[in-house]
Amino acid sequence: MPRTYFVGGNFKMNPTTLEQKRVLVKTLNEATLDPQTEVVIAPPALYLISVLDLIRKDIKVAAQNCHAKASGAFTGEISATQLKDAGIPYVILGHSERRSLFHETSEIVAEKTRAALDQGLKVILCVGETLEERESGRTQQVVEAQLQTVIAVTKPEDWSHIVVAYEPVWAIGTGKVATSAQAQETHAETRKYLASAVSPAVAESTRIIYGGSVSGVNCNELTVQPDVDGFLVGGASLKPEFVNIINARK
Ligand code: G3H
Repeated sequence: MPRTYFVGGNFKMNPTTLEQKRVLVKTLNEATLDPQTEVVIAPPALYLISVLDLIRKDIKVAAQNCHAKASGAFTGEISATQLKDAGIPYVILGHSERRSLFHETSEIVAEKTRAALDQGLKVILCVGETLEERESGRTQQVVEAQLQTVIAVTKPEDWSHIVVAYEPVWAIGTGKVATSAQAQETHAETRKYLASAVSPAVAESTRIIYGGSVSGVNCNELTVQPDVDGFLVGGASLKPEFVNIINARK
């Protein structure tokens, strides 16, 4: 069965006003979108419930993070249990900004992934190498190590609830997008890894999406790559060109 194309918009800590958030939602609500593409937007936690209420029902909503524990004295955190209760179906985990700025190890990411899956949430699991790691030929090693901790706490059947987002750190927010050949190579290698570490069926069915300086223009070349199953978009998801990215599937 072909993999359903997936486009996520990670708003990160944007927009900064309620009015900007209203405009973003209105733009998407009024757009003509490819019905064959699964679209998920991840606003800041503050806006999750209002976006869920206001956004058209064919667009899903994701949190940008969650805590592994269900509740307790964890100031500033939101649990997978609370996301589930609020009707939020997806959560982004392991984003490189969480890994580098908030010191989340792959073990922490795995623990959060397990907690999210246990609550019935779907997970957009981010992996990717730094420039130094790429230049020293360690891209695949890094990506596989990041996946391995999650594989260790999951069963093959969990993978129907996981979308892998390959996001090379050097491409995030830099305007320096991976070439379609670089993306395709890493996605294909990652799929091969999933086949051996989980199962060939999981490798075949798991969406592997690309993130890092995706725009309404460069998405066209990336989208024709056989192992690129969509995008996780940062900056461009705040602009009208996000609609072009959603509709880029060939
Ligand atoms: O989650 C999204 C990625 O970090 C990509 O961000 O499109 O602004 O480079 P970007």
